Amino acid sequence: MKRELIKYVLEREDYGAEVTVAGWVRTRRDSKGGFSFIELNDGSTLTGLQIIADGDLPNYESDVLRLSIGSAVRVTGILTESPAKGQRVEIKATEVEPFGLADPETYPLQKKRVSFEHLREIAHLRPRTNTIGAVARVRNALSYATHQFYQDRGFLYLHTPIITTSDAEGAGEMFRVTTLDPGSPPRAENGAVDYAQDFFGVPTFLTVSGQLNAEAYALAFDRVYTFGPTFRAENSNTRRHLAEFWMVEPEIAFADLNDNADLAEDYVKYLIRYVLEHNTTDIEFFNKWVDETLVDTLTGVAESDFERITYTQAIDLLEKADESFEFPVAWGDDLQSEHERYLTEQVIKKPVIVTDFPFDFKAFYMRRNDDDKTVAAMDVLVPQIGEIVGGSQREERLDVLADSMRIKGMDEDHYWWYLDLRRFGSVPHAGFGLGLERVVQFATGMQNIRDVIPFPRSPRNAEF
Ligand code: 4AD
Ligand code: MG
Repeated sequence: MKRELIKYVLEREDYGAEVTVAGWVRTRRDSKGGFSFIELNDGSTLTGLQIIADGDLPNYESDVLRLSIGSAVRVTGILTESPAKGQRVEIKATEVEPFGLADPETYPLQKKRVSFEHLREIAHLRPRTNTIGAVARVRNALSYATHQFYQDRGFLYLHTPIITTSDAEGAGEMFRVTTLDPGSPPRAENGAVDYAQDFFGVPTFLTVSGQLNAEAYALAFDRVYTFGPTFRAENSNTRRHLAEFWMVEPEIAFADLNDNADLAEDYVKYLIRYVLEHNTTDIEFFNKWVDETLVDTLTGVAESDFERITYTQAIDLLEKADESFEFPVAWGDDLQSEHERYLTEQVIKKPVIVTDFPFDFKAFYMRRNDDDKTVAAMDVLVPQIGEIVGGSQREERLDVLADSMRIKGMDEDHYWWYLDLRRFGSVPHAGFGLGLERVVQFATGMQNIRDVIPFPRSPRNAEF
């Protein structure tokens, strides 16, 4: 069907030309003079296009006057310089073709402001709001910029599996994938469920990370990245956790923790610069309505060097802090969100990369440091969010990796292929995972992670 996206129409200057647009009515005002103003939005940009529908139109009474908020319509008309403030062009309609109308009595998105909580209950309609529309465009831009960043640097884009037998993070937060009947699963002699009779013949799960597979490809292609959905069955109802989220995971060979931190810093800055440059209208909208410090924060991040400190230094800073934390601070305990935010917001006041965490609470694949207490891990922390990136140098030494797995109680036979990568052509290598939703939150100032993914999945919430 012929139509042009509104964002392109808004850039045109060839007044007098005929254009056709289509979208959903945001407002309609009827003037006493017998004509109507319709603000039309098609999602291509925050700004709607103003349509003037004259009373002379043959279907003015029968159609135009029934175009309530949310109704779909296609309009052909003449591009005209607008006398109104805040817009350069408008369309003088010559033809108005209505599609589905939206009953004003029941359509939930009327002119008044609604809470984000309420919008989550109508997740199928919320993309038609200004905020969720802007979030979707920023998310799209960040995804596109991700591919640009890695492709421009020679990385191979790799699709890693969603269904897996491995717990890549060793945290036991996996969703089981099975075709067995939960009511009467086949049982082995000892009474346990007999997964030999399941679809794959072994227990399988939704992946928590594509990293282990990405490592195999990095050790053949030098540099790769995977970008896909990941799943965590952690029962945390926080504003920064989802059960299903999208992760970007680069993996680089012939690289150590420093190279890894450099890559993460370049990538995060690239993303922020990209949206500042390409999503100006949306970012200004968030700055006005969601977080008035947003543009300053983002510009600061795009221009500053990230601070780098060790976990041990971080604990020192937290112990000296004049602040009462909910969770205690002690060497050996993981940093909590409140600690992360305190470090980046109060102490360092810009993004910080914390490195060299204790071996005890980190994943088995992280490279052991010479002190035998810490591993070559890193987290990138940013204001408002805390951890946005987690990664490490990988253990490339077969004997040390096997030892780490033993200590963590893992079955070496199960990970035979992962260990093989250390048997044949092993090299120092490193990588990280960036949570896409966390970056969308950071780039938009949105408080709750459930509002930056189209259809959020969290404990007790899988509708839509
Ligand atoms: O720190 P994580 O758990 O690291 C890994 O999964 C590594 N295998 C990545 C790698 O080295 N290739 O997760 C990486 C990032 C976090 O920093 C966070 O941004 C995001 O993924 N993340 C979540 N985002 C939303 N909801 C959750 N439940 C998340 N868990 C992690
Ligand atoms: Mg982490």
